[in-house]
Order: sequence, then C-alpha cells, then structure tokens
Amino acid sequence: MKILVTGGAGFIGSHTLIELHNAGHEVVVIDNLCNSNPKSLERVSAICGAVIPFMQVDIRDRKGLEEVFSQFTFDACIHFAGLKAVGESVAKPLEYYENNISGTLVLLDVMREHGCKNIIFSSSATVYGNPAQIPITEECPKGHCTNPYGQTKSMLEQIMMDMQAADPEWNVVLLRYFNPIGAHPSGRIGENPNGIPNNLMPYITQVAVGKRPELGVFGNDYDTPDGTGVRDYIHVVDLARGHVSALKAIERKCGLAIYNLGTGHGYSVLDIVHAFERVNGVPVPYAIKPRRPGDIATCYSDPAKAERELGWKAEYGIDEMCRDSWNWQKNNPNGYEG
Ligand code: NAD
Ligand code: WQD
Repeated sequence: MKILVTGGAGFIGSHTLIELHNAGHEVVVIDNLCNSNPKSLERVSAICGAVIPFMQVDIRDRKGLEEVFSQFTFDACIHFAGLKAVGESVAKPLEYYENNISGTLVLLDVMREHGCKNIIFSSSATVYGNPAQIPITEECPKGHCTNPYGQTKSMLEQIMMDMQAADPEWNVVLLRYFNPIGAHPSGRIGENPNGIPNNLMPYITQVAVGKRPELGVFGNDYDTPDGTGVRDYIHVVDLARGHVSALKAIERKCGLAIYNLGTGHGYSVLDIVHAFERVNGVPVPYAIKPRRPGDIATCYSDPAKAERELGWKAEYGIDEMCRDSWNWQKNNPNGYEG
C-alpha cells in the first residue's frame, strides 16, 4: 500500500517506517520537525537501503497538505503527528488543542477531499483514565483524563468515531498504545527527548550514561507489589509492527476498530530499574520522591483482541527493551546531535 505517515520523523514514526518498508509498503513522510530531527529519517533510509520521501509540512497547513495530496495518491494515512508532553499540555492547553485537534481536523478534511478514507490513529492508554478494570480491555469505559494532552486523544477518538458513523466509507483504526520504550536493535534510531525527560526509560538511560545524577522514583506507597507504579512497557519495534498489522483491518474494510497495543505484562518502576541494571551491567542510582500528580497506581493491557483479529502479538520482553534502550543511548549520548 502507499501510505502517508504524519509525524514520521519522531520516535514511534521512525521505527514504523522501517517495519512498513520491510513489509513491502511505500511511504511518504510529513513532519514539521517541532519535536524531531531529520537525521532520524536519514538513518531510517540507511537502515532500509532506500530513500524515504519526506516533506516538511505542518498538518495545520491546508495548502501544504493539498500539495502533498496532489503529488501522491495514498491508500491510507498513519497519523502520529501531535504534541505529547503531559506536563507541557497542562501549562499550554491552547497550543495542545490547536496543534492536535485543529491539525487533525485539517488532515481529515484534506484526506476526505482526496478520497483517502483510511486512517490509523496514535491513541493512548491515557484515554482509560484511572481504569475501571485491570487488565484493560478495549471495552473498558474511557475515563477522566487529568490533562489536556489526554483530552486531545480522547476527543480525537470521538471525532473520528462520529466521522466514521456519518460516512461508513471511512475505515478508522484507533490504536491505544501503552508505554513504548526500547529502540531499533541497530542502535541508530531511538527516543530523543528535548530537555529533561518526562518518561521513565529515557530518564533511566540518561542517568546510566552520566547525564543526570539519579532517577527520582515517583512514590513507593502505591497499592502495588513493591509500592511503585506498574505499567505495560512495550518494545517500540513491536509497537511499530502493530501498525503494519493494523493495515490488515483497513484492507478488510473494518469500519471502526479499536485495539490496545501492549504486552499484557505489568512492571513496576523498580522492576524496570533492576532489569536495566542486570541486563546492561550499569548502575542506576535512584531516590524515592513524592508521587507525581495525575499518576495512577497500575495500568496494563489485555492485548488479546489485537492477537485475535490482527494476528499481532508483542514478541520482545523487558530484557530486550532495556538492552535496546541502552544500546541507543550509549551509542548516541546526545541523541541525533552527537
Ligand atoms: P514524537 O514527538 O517523537 O513524534 C511526533 C512527531 O510529530 C514529531 O516528529 C513532531 O515533530 C511531529 N509533529 C507534531 N506536531 C506536528 C504538526 N502540527 N505537524 C506536523 N508534524 C507534527 O512522539 P512519539 O512518541 O513518536 O509519538 C507519536 C504519536 O503517538 C503521538 O501522537 C503521541 O501522542 C502518540 N503516543 C505516544 C506515546 C509515547 O509514550 N511515546 C504513547 C501513546 C501515544
Ligand atoms: C511510568 C512510571 C511514573 C519518570 C505517559 C503518559 C501517557 C503515555 C505514555 C502518551 C510511572 C514513574 C516516571 C520518572 C518515575 N504517553 N516515573 N520517575 O506516566 O505511564 O505515561 O507516557 O500518550 O499518556 O501519561 O509513563 O514513563 O512517565 O511513567 O518514577 O522520572 O514511571 O510515576 O509510575 P506514564 P512514564
């Protein structure tokens, strides 16, 4: 298939490009590079042995999108582009709603105009809020999102559901990612956060490489086996392959389909720290800190629906996730800048 990948220079997008290429799909990337470096695309091209066509376009820019759609005919769009920092979204709600919601509305409208009515959307486990049940199935009701970032995911899901209900020619696949970590095994591409990392694994790797003195563990008094927060970490290469599998749902004209992409296993913060130290043989000093506002105790998926309907299942375990995160960080201590 010929696929438009928005946000393809970013962490998950860049890994997905490789898996799409390996599966024989043709891709075109658009990204405004607000949270990524075009070197990721150069490296993806090197890994694939093929140049990945790229246009620097903002999804809010209708003229720019029109230009892309006038040059290419797409079978589907995989829509990663968006702002994703939870804390920043609390400080800058208008910027988040404008970028994520307005941008997606423009994208959907231009897609419709050009007769491309197939979309795979990057949603998040955050839409479940404090989940009503663990493990979380897709039937679990959506919950209250404590931040504007999460609201944009929940609202965009609703917008696309309404759109699909009004026009059944659309095929909409909502993928709810759990906690993506790891990196391509080559160590050439990976997660490249700006400034102080918000998420656990990039913080751990920056401590391990000596850029930060210690990890703050946000709370050890949760109702979990060791008191620290439990999450469903998934290797980004598995997640990337989930998108290739999701194209099958588009091919069989699924209408609306929703899938959790997780492993189904929950690991605590200290499980991750200890696995990282064991697998990589590097120490990760840490200190217990107060809980982070908005955090929940436990969140992990029931991924059975994706296996049943898409034949997709995560293959990598926590050891590979820790190994590949470290392989990326130690080979690229300054991300794409060094
Ligand atoms: P990322 O920031 O690395 O990638 C997003 C890309 O979108 C970046 O390259 C950025 O430059 C681009 N972008 C942002 N706004 C744009 C705009 N207006 N026009 C064009 N490009 C724009 O993030 P990621 O971790 O790769 O996440 C990809 C998607 O998955 C996002 O939608 C994110 O919300 C979602 N998601 C991520 C996680 C996670 O933990 N990483 C979890 C659940 C969902
Ligand atoms: C994981 C665990 C923290 C950092 C977020 C978004 C979610 C999704 C994925 C996009 C928690 C603890 C973390 C640190 C710590 N993103 N932690 N010290 O919060 O599960 O999910 O990213 O959609 O929407 O909310 O991921 O990696 O931030 O935290 O102790 O320095 O690690 O408290 O228990 P989270 P995370």
